[in-house]
Amino acid sequence: MYTHEDLAALQAQSLKMQGFIRRQTFSPEHEKTLRRFSSWEVAELIFKINQSTFRGRLAADPDLPGGEVEEDGRQRWFSLTEINELRRKMKINRTSLMPKRPAGKRAIRVAISNFKGGAGKSTVALHMAHAAALDGYRVLVVDFDPQATLTHSMGLHDVSEDLTVWGIIARDLVRETDRMNAMPQAAESGTALPQRRLPASVRDLGLGDLRVTDFIRPTAWPTIDIVPSCANAAFVEFASAQYRHLNPDWSFFAAVSRYLDALSADAYDLILFDCPPAIGYQSMNAVFAADVLYIPSGPGYWEYDSTTSFIGQLSEALEDLAHGFDGTFPAGKMRLPKAFLDLRFLMTRYEPGNELHRAMLEAFRKVFGDTVCNEPIEMTRAVEQSGRFLSSVYEIDYRTMTRETWRRARASFDRAYEEFRACFLDAWAKMEDEQ
Ligand SMILES: Nc1ncnc2c1ncn2[C@@H]1O[C@H](COP(=O)(O)OP(=O)(O)OP(=O)(O)O)[C@@H](O)[C@H]1O
Ligand SMILES: [Mg+2]
Repeated sequence: MYTHEDLAALQAQSLKMQGFIRRQTFSPEHEKTLRRFSSWEVAELIFKINQSTFRGRLAADPDLPGGEVEEDGRQRWFSLTEINELRRKMKINRTSLMPKRPAGKRAIRVAISNFKGGAGKSTVALHMAHAAALDGYRVLVVDFDPQATLTHSMGLHDVSEDLTVWGIIARDLVRETDRMNAMPQAAESGTALPQRRLPASVRDLGLGDLRVTDFIRPTAWPTIDIVPSCANAAFVEFASAQYRHLNPDWSFFAAVSRYLDALSADAYDLILFDCPPAIGYQSMNAVFAADVLYIPSGPGYWEYDSTTSFIGQLSEALEDLAHGFDGTFPAGKMRLPKAFLDLRFLMTRYEPGNELHRAMLEAFRKVFGDTVCNEPIEMTRAVEQSGRFLSSVYEIDYRTMTRETWRRARASFDRAYEEFRACFLDAWAKMEDEQ
C-alpha cells in the first residue's frame, strides 16, 4: 500500500536526482540562444524596406551597426540588439522605424485563453511575443500554466515555484491582508473589517518581502522578459482555495493585476499571458488583468464545442466576481464588472485546402461575427516539428528548410500578428490613463 508519505518520498528522490537526469537527457543544443537575422530578413521582413535601400544606408553611415558577415560572405547577419539600434537611428523617408506606442500609458495586456487543451494557446503566445519583439516592442510574457510550455520554449529550466504566478498570488494575499488589517477608517466608522490572521506556513514563506522585479527573468530574446512557471506551481489551484478561507475579503482574482500595476508604466509595451487549459485561480487572474482577450481554437467540431462552453463558464465566473465583490472592495485599478477593451476568436492549425476547416471558419464567423480574426493561423510543419520545445518560425533559421516552406509559415504568423497588432493598438488607444 502507498500513502501520501510514500508519494512524498518518491518526490524527494526525484527532486534530488533532477539535475542529474537533466544532464543525462538534455543536450546542450537545447539551450536556447537567439540566432542572428540576415540583411534580407531585416530589410524586407522586419523593416519592410527595399534591400538595396538598406544596404545603401549601411554603406553611407559607418556609425550604424554593420552586423556580421558569415562564411558564405554574401549576407550580413544582425543580432536583435543591433536591429533595435538600427531602428532607433535610421529613418526611411523621414519616418521613424520605431513601433507605435501611445505616450505615457502603461503596457497593453493580452490574455491568450481557452480551456480546451492543445488549442494552440502557447504557440500563439510564443509567436506573438516573438513577432512583437522583432517589430520593436518590449514584451513581458507571463506563464500562468504549470505545464510551463512557454517557459521551456523561452529557454528557462530552473524555476522555483516561489517566483511564479503562484508566488505573486501568495505575496498578494500577505500584502492585502496586512493592508486590510491596518485600515484605520474601518475602526472609526464602526464597520471594521475583522482582523485576519495568516498562519506561519504562509507568512514564513517570506513572499511578502519579494520585490516586483524578483519575479521577472530575462530570456534569450533581449527585449522579451518572462514571469516563468514550473510544474510545482500547479499547487496554486489547491492553495488559493485555502487562502480564500483565510481571508474571504481578499480579491484573489486581482492579485496579478495589482502586481502588474506596480511595474513602471514604460517598462514594457506588451504584456502577454499564456493560460492553462482550465478555468481556475490562475486563469481568472490572467483574464481579470487582461485588457484584451484572445481565444484560440482549433478547426474541429469538438474545439468549437468546448470554445462555446469556455465562454459560457467564463461569463458565469466573471458574473460571480461582479456580484461577490460589487463595490465592497478595491480590486486594484481594474473595475468590476470586468470589461475587455477587445475580444477575438482566432482559429489555429487551419488548413486552407481542407473543406471541413473552411466550413468551421465560416461557422465561427456566422456565430461570433466580427470578433473572429480574419487571418487564421495555418497548420505549419515548421512549428509542428520544431522539436522538443516549441520554437517559433521566427527562431528557426530559414536555411534549415526550403525557403518557400519557411516563408509560407512565417507569412501566416505575420498576417495573424499584423491583425493582433491592429487590435492591441486600437485597444491601447481606448485604454483610459490610470496614472
Ligand atoms: N499552427 C500550428 N501548426 C502546427 N502545429 C501546431 C500549430 N499550433 C499548435 N501546434 C501544435 O499543437 C500542439 C499544441 O499546441 P499548444 O501547446 O500551442 O497548445 P495549448 O493550447 O497551449 O495547449 P495546452 O492547453 O496544453 O496548454 C503543439 O504540439 C504544437 O506544436
Ligand atoms: Mg499551452
